Amino acid sequence: MAGMDSASRYPALADLRARARARLPRFVWEFLDSGTGAEATGPRNRAALDRVRLMPAILQGEVPATTGVRFLGAAFDLPVGIAPVGMSGLIWPDAEVTLARAAAEAGIPYCLSTVASRTPEDLHDAVGAHGWFQLYPPRDPDIRADMLARARASGFGTLVLTVDVPVASRRERLVRSGLTQPPRLTPRLLAQVALRPAWAWGMACRGCPGCA
Ligand SMILES: Cc1cc2nc3c(=O)[nH]c(=O)nc-3n(C[C@H](O)[C@H](O)[C@H](O)COP(=O)(O)O)c2cc1C
Repeated sequence: MAGMDSASRYPALADLRARARARLPRFVWEFLDSGTGAEATGPRNRAALDRVRLMPAILQGEVPATTGVRFLGAAFDLPVGIAPVGMSGLIWPDAEVTLARAAAEAGIPYCLSTVASRTPEDLHDAVGAHGWFQLYPPRDPDIRADMLARARASGFGTLVLTVDVPVASRRERLVRSGLTQPPRLTPRLLAQVALRPAWAWGMACRGCPGCA
């Protein structure tokens, strides 16, 4: 495998998914992968996306192909962006910085979560022209104003307001993995970490997210 680029090693998203599952301790994998309740919505979303078809435009002469779009007054190179994922640093060390840089290079938006493992200031130099900041609105208006001011000063010019999480979601696989609320490193979780030494080494080298 040495020398192969990641597109050759992981040609399908399913390959990346299998790799992530093999690398992450169970509670981290369940945090990333589990849906809520009976998890009926994931397959429904998948089926809806699979129903989208593209019609090839043939015998139309030279059609200049472009994946660029304009959205919210800005020009993007692709019609996709990186969605906010809380505690990304638990999944990969410094994931927020890596993803923000990759998004800036690709000309797409990067959206930082309210519950990220890096501060907006940490991303100031990485975020590029299309930094979005996702807000779970706090009850205290002073905290809210402070968060928004910090995000704006750090280069996040677009606000994404998440309004569909009025209470903590019920993720049954995550509960089954043994992760408590608030999270505590119990012997059960430590046993899961011990089975994933590469992940543990990465965390040990870069610092456990949230413990900075
Ligand atoms: C592990 C995980 C963490 C997430 N964290 C956040 C978050 O902090 N804030 C937020 O607004 N959405 C969060 N989301 C929702 C995603 O940004 C996205 O909207 C959602 O996963 C739907 O996109 P999908 O169908 O491509 O997964 C999270 C999703 C996942 C899977």
